[in-house]
Amino acid sequence: MTRSAFLDKTAIVAGGSTGIGYATAQKIAQGGGTVYITGRDRARVMSAAADIPGNVIGIQADSRSPEDLDRLFTEVQERSERLDVLVINAASLAPAPLGTITRELVTTTFDLNVTATIMVVQKALPLLTAGSSIVLTGSMAAHKASRNQSVYAASKAAVRALARTWALELSPRAIRVNVVSPGPTDTPGLGRLAPTAEDQTALVTRMGAGTPMTRVGTPEEVASVIAFVASDAASHVNGADYQVDGGYGQV
Ligand SMILES: NC(=O)c1ccc[n+]([C@@H]2O[C@H](COP(=O)([O-])OP(=O)(O)OC[C@H]3O[C@@H](n4cnc5c(N)ncnc54)[C@H](OP(=O)(O)O)[C@@H]3O)[C@@H](O)[C@H]2O)c1
Repeated sequence: MTRSAFLDKTAIVAGGSTGIGYATAQKIAQGGGTVYITGRDRARVMSAAADIPGNVIGIQADSRSPEDLDRLFTEVQERSERLDVLVINAASLAPAPLGTITRELVTTTFDLNVTATIMVVQKALPLLTAGSSIVLTGSMAAHKASRNQSVYAASKAAVRALARTWALELSPRAIRVNVVSPGPTDTPGLGRLAPTAEDQTALVTRMGAGTPMTRVGTPEEVASVIAFVASDAASHVNGADYQVDGGYGQV
């Protein structure tokens, strides 16, 4: 990735205030791009935007809220007039063994991971330029089973299916659509799966031990691949699913 990979480009990272989204915003800003990052928590999103060197703008927006999306895209249009990169990263994971899955859990998971993904892309369509790139954050959960994650896995399989179809539908506009699927990655999102700091360390160690590289990934390692797929260096990569998992689902 060159230092000018995103020069004169405008990007949105929907869900960019922590973890993989934050690291992705860093990479795009390092490459000279203007990056809008979103999140539900205003203080967190503004502090993240202030922390990342470069042209990073924080906008509080819940991807599930039509009003918030209207406000987000109006601001991007007024300030930047165009969009070259759209990274849809926010997702919900609430583990539940089969037999305990509630209707509410299914609705909440699919509302963010699938419905909001569709709505954000649709809102972005008028601003996306020829040659632009949409990257959806998938998950290795769509490819390899983990106990208690059936609903999340199904939602991420849907994300993968959306990318295939949209790659086809948006080809006439020269817009590429791809998925990047992380394996276990050390983020605040992963940490929330365990109740205490001690449990979090144990979880990260256990998940790392399950990969050929014997460690979980870092947000930066996933973000590097998202930034590559988002950039013109990947100009012939379309409808693909890049798996960034230390070999977890590959061997
Ligand atoms: N970490 C892993 O091990 C792993 C593995 C496979 C796949 N993934 C995928 O990678 C992506 C990022 O995961 P992560 O672990 O980096 O998560 P994270 O640390 O929890 O970060 C999630 C980001 O999304 C924002 N967000 C959450 N709900 C939102 C909403 N409704 N509207 C707008 N923004 C929202 C969060 O800010 P607020 O909370 O303030 O809204 C935050 O900026 C997800 O799609 C996840 O499924 C992660």
